[in-house]
Amino acid sequence: MPLPDGFIEEIKVKNDTVDVISSYVSLRRRGRNLVGLCPFHSEKTPSFNVYPLSSSFYCFGCGCGGDIITFVEKIENLDYLEAVKFLAQRAGVKMPENSQRDQENAFIKMRILEVNRAAARFFYENLYSEKGRGALDYLHRRGVSDRTIKKFGLGYSPNSRYNLINHLRGCGFSNSEIVSANLAYSRGGDTNSVSARFFDRVMFPIIDLRGNVIAFGGRVMSGLKPKYLNTSDTLVFKKSLNIFALNFAKADNDGVLILVEGYMDVIALHQAGFRNAIATLGTALTSEQARIIARYAKEVVICYDSDEAGQKAASRAIDLLRPTGILIKVISVPDGKDPDEFIRSYGKDGAIRFAQLIKNSGNDIEYRLQKAARGYNLADSEAKIAYLKDCVKILASLDDLIEQEIYAGKLSEKLDILKQTIMSQVAKERLRTKKRVEKKQFLNIQQNLSARNDRLNAEKSHNLRAAAAEEAIIAYIINNPESAGNIFYRLSYRDFCTSFNRKIYSVLEKRFKAGRPISITDLTLDFSCDEVSAIAAMLAKEAERMSSRDAVSEYINVILFESGKLDEDKIGAACDEQIIGYMQLLREHKK
Ligand code: UTP
Ligand code: MN
Repeated sequence: MPLPDGFIEEIKVKNDTVDVISSYVSLRRRGRNLVGLCPFHSEKTPSFNVYPLSSSFYCFGCGCGGDIITFVEKIENLDYLEAVKFLAQRAGVKMPENSQRDQENAFIKMRILEVNRAAARFFYENLYSEKGRGALDYLHRRGVSDRTIKKFGLGYSPNSRYNLINHLRGCGFSNSEIVSANLAYSRGGDTNSVSARFFDRVMFPIIDLRGNVIAFGGRVMSGLKPKYLNTSDTLVFKKSLNIFALNFAKADNDGVLILVEGYMDVIALHQAGFRNAIATLGTALTSEQARIIARYAKEVVICYDSDEAGQKAASRAIDLLRPTGILIKVISVPDGKDPDEFIRSYGKDGAIRFAQLIKNSGNDIEYRLQKAARGYNLADSEAKIAYLKDCVKILASLDDLIEQEIYAGKLSEKLDILKQTIMSQVAKERLRTKKRVEKKQFLNIQQNLSARNDRLNAEKSHNLRAAAAEEAIIAYIINNPESAGNIFYRLSYRDFCTSFNRKIYSVLEKRFKAGRPISITDLTLDFSCDEVSAIAAMLAKEAERMSSRDAVSEYINVILFESGKLDEDKIGAACDEQIIGYMQLLREHKK
């Protein structure tokens, strides 16, 4: 839906880019700009930059960038309109009237939630009917009480392709609504012929923070595969954004959440009194989920399976959780058990035993230091040195000097080495990493990012010089709209030789001539997310460069020269210096 300029303007003015981004990323000032750890990929040294001048952001590590609206789109996983709404709400600005499509979408979403609720009720009733006897026995055998079944709304999907569908049709839902909720498949896209997705499975409803049933997981009771079948992403459900049982745990956690791998682990823990247990939905933790966790707790206890896959997942989860600033503890359940098996194996004492595990758990740095010690015989001095080197790397990943001091102190005692020595090694390592990162960032600007940009702008490789000048001009105009008139007078979009840049320039030119604003935010509607990233990359380069007026004349000359379209009028309008510069360029070219 086209939003009025005035409205976008208000959103822009009332949502300061640095303010908004700071509420997700801890930013440090660096010169005119700010830097922090990128929230969109996992990194240990900051390559995420925020540019107040152009109200844009750009990450040199992963190449994602944009303006405040694209930032909210990405970080909250919203579409364009939802992100605008989000920012409007944040700033207390009223949205313009809803469009028709908006209303239709909201209606479908509501129907999906209703059909899910009806299905959950149907599954629950089936569990306690004759048909569900096997499933109920199964849950009881696994130690799940009726009270827990009720709390989680567990159920049973009968062994039929049609029972559920007939029931839902009887409740007034259409086939297409049932298919939209992913409760059924339509055969060959024909909504007249649909069949249930879940049958003969124990059903686990997935409930969002507002109490809506947004999806299901269904477990087979035999050894068939897949063990769990989950709802695919729908209009109301995104696996990577939701967390199982957070609807319970968010209000009942004393600032600590226990992160486990499976539905059954969560359920067993809740039943044993750990009402702060949560799990992702069969996928590795995502950065979005990490941020959600940090929003509801100050501390997270990671309790993944002790097999190799589980430990890898734990390391990755630590990497994603660390940038959020939340305190991280890690426990491993002994004997290769998962938390559900552990608790059950101790019967009545299960809860006490699990509480002990938590109490004895180390935080993530301790966990990593301990893990590093494995395989070293510390009585041997060479091994000790090698171990110390590993530890120094781990400590160097800490940004907080006090934290570094604490662990350096512990290590100093353990290894009988002066704390001072360890700290100076850590400082050296940090310097090395910093240099490495800076070098990498520099190379990234040169290579990777232009490669990304090249995908959008394939013609660039044919005319690097012109394309570079075009990008510089675009960034300069966005940063200095007061000089735009002069540039548009001297340079038409027709002079551009790459069509991607030409498109950007022509959008800018049209907007400018119509008296409309031309910040990056004003471009987000005309360009895709990737394209906006590419524009943010141009702004990021310009922020390093800060082109002078002379440089701008140079860019214009290069573009005119490369396009071969320099006409007499324009030479007449240019000042002497520019013409001299232009002649020089011509001469160089002829050589
Ligand atoms: P687990 O197999 O560890 O789950 O998989 P669990 O909860 O301990 O299962 P039980 O005890 O055998 O019943 C961890 C999680 O991975 C997802 C589910 O979310 C599960 O809870 N998963 C697993 C799937 O989505 N599909 C599968 O086929 C298997
Ligand atoms: Mn299990």
